[in-house]
Amino acid sequence: MSTQEAQPENLMEAIVSLAKRRGFVFQSSEIYGGLNGFFDYGPLGVELKKNIRDCWWNDMVRRRDDVVGIETSIIMHPKVWEASGHVAGFTDPLVDCKVSKDRYRADQLFWAPIVVDGNTIGYVSALESEKTVEELQAAAESFKRKKAIQGALAPVVAKDFTEAKPEEIALIPSPATGNPGDLTPPRSFNMMFQTNVGAMTNASSVAYLRPETAQGMFVDFKNVVDTNRVKLPFGIAQIGKSFRNEITPRNFIFRSREFEQMEMEYFIHEDADWAKVHEEWISWCEAWLKSIGLPDSHLSRYSHPKEKLAFYSRGTVDIMFKYPFGVQELWGIAARGSYDLTQHANASGKPQEVFDEASKKKFVPHVIEPAVGVDRIFLAVLTAGYAEEEVTDEKGNKEKRTVLRLSPRIAPVKVAVLPLLKNKEVLTNRAKALYAKLKRNYAVQYDDGGAIGKRYRRQDEAGTPWCVTIDFDTIEKPGDTFTLRERDSMQQKRITESELFALLQENVY
Ligand code: GAP
Repeated sequence: MSTQEAQPENLMEAIVSLAKRRGFVFQSSEIYGGLNGFFDYGPLGVELKKNIRDCWWNDMVRRRDDVVGIETSIIMHPKVWEASGHVAGFTDPLVDCKVSKDRYRADQLFWAPIVVDGNTIGYVSALESEKTVEELQAAAESFKRKKAIQGALAPVVAKDFTEAKPEEIALIPSPATGNPGDLTPPRSFNMMFQTNVGAMTNASSVAYLRPETAQGMFVDFKNVVDTNRVKLPFGIAQIGKSFRNEITPRNFIFRSREFEQMEMEYFIHEDADWAKVHEEWISWCEAWLKSIGLPDSHLSRYSHPKEKLAFYSRGTVDIMFKYPFGVQELWGIAARGSYDLTQHANASGKPQEVFDEASKKKFVPHVIEPAVGVDRIFLAVLTAGYAEEEVTDEKGNKEKRTVLRLSPRIAPVKVAVLPLLKNKEVLTNRAKALYAKLKRNYAVQYDDGGAIGKRYRRQDEAGTPWCVTIDFDTIEKPGDTFTLRERDSMQQKRITESELFALLQENVY
């Protein structure tokens, strides 16, 4: 069999379609028209997501001696969010179109003056995309043509809407209506979802759905130190849901309003070489992403410029991933100094210090924080793993197959057990016995429906790394062997039960 592999041009559409067709991800409340920024995970999706979480938890917490796990509540005391700075500062700049009622994030709305022979003759706008500058340039050319203005059009210089001066705001056209004067100046919009705790709905009952899991680790810092034999440097990790009322949720599950985070706060001595520890964690995160199958070719680093960092921050590096809609942040690794613990110590009146035996001094530890979204990893593994292939069999017949090349570590189904024929008890009995044994430790599927080739294709689309077929050789020939068919190479070989278990043990961890 030969193959020709390609990722389709409309990769994002293909992924969204596969996700729905095979039950990975659905729009939330779909029968009511959906709710923007919220998603449900179907039977295959929930397994994939759980495997991502489990791999992270095993590698980050269970297999390390210096990290412990916790699970804190989603709704915390409102003072937590005052002390952390979220009430005052967890905002995005919001712009309204007064006519269409569309809302934009000012830093995702781009504009440029149209300059002909050194004179500004108008303005153009476009939403952030891979092609923002090309779109602005095309709009500028079209504007000049329509107005029949002669002269040389300068290349557009794109700026985001936060950089527009008040006099420019009135001249920039709304992307929705195309008319200047329809956009409002940007204003700060707090992204925390508010709710009320208890029967009263007044100012004193206001609470928030957490916008990050990290504050749970800071607020419980003393509890963990006092109840566990932890010593600096050590980390506290948590996996859980976070909520942000994003102005423009988009790109499927990349930016949603309810999502899941895996965060770890690594506490270090105030005199520790923070830059070294920071670099160690960035490398750890990159290696971990590769261990679940993300290729080097899709990963890069972005260091936040010093002038854009919060005053307390010493440095932030994002691990970026090449999504179908562009290179975007996957994992942020921040060196936050002692800011968070100090804020909570001041706001609560409860010191957040540790005692250093060597110097006989008390101090507030500093922290390195790797923070990643489960849903973003989910989309990354679909992006890197999705392929459409033209397969030519030995007889020269061509066929298209869709395959998800997921690492066995995270694949929703590890093995599919397929009796060659549905109506031959000798085959189905052996297949069911193997299935029952595998099921004790692994996510497996039993599939006896349709031609064997069709069953292989079904498993390819679900990302199942191996299929085992129980055929007449299993029953009739010595050795009790099955046909093992490998998803990526489509190669087949004979394998015994104990070899199959050894293969799984080595690759699923
Ligand atoms: N405690 C630090 C913190 O929360 P962040 O960069 O705002 O930092 C960390 O978020 C990670 O959470 C991001 O790198 C991303 O993977 C994920 N994330 C953030 N906002 C998200 C959203 N609206 N939808 C999905 N994932 C999101």
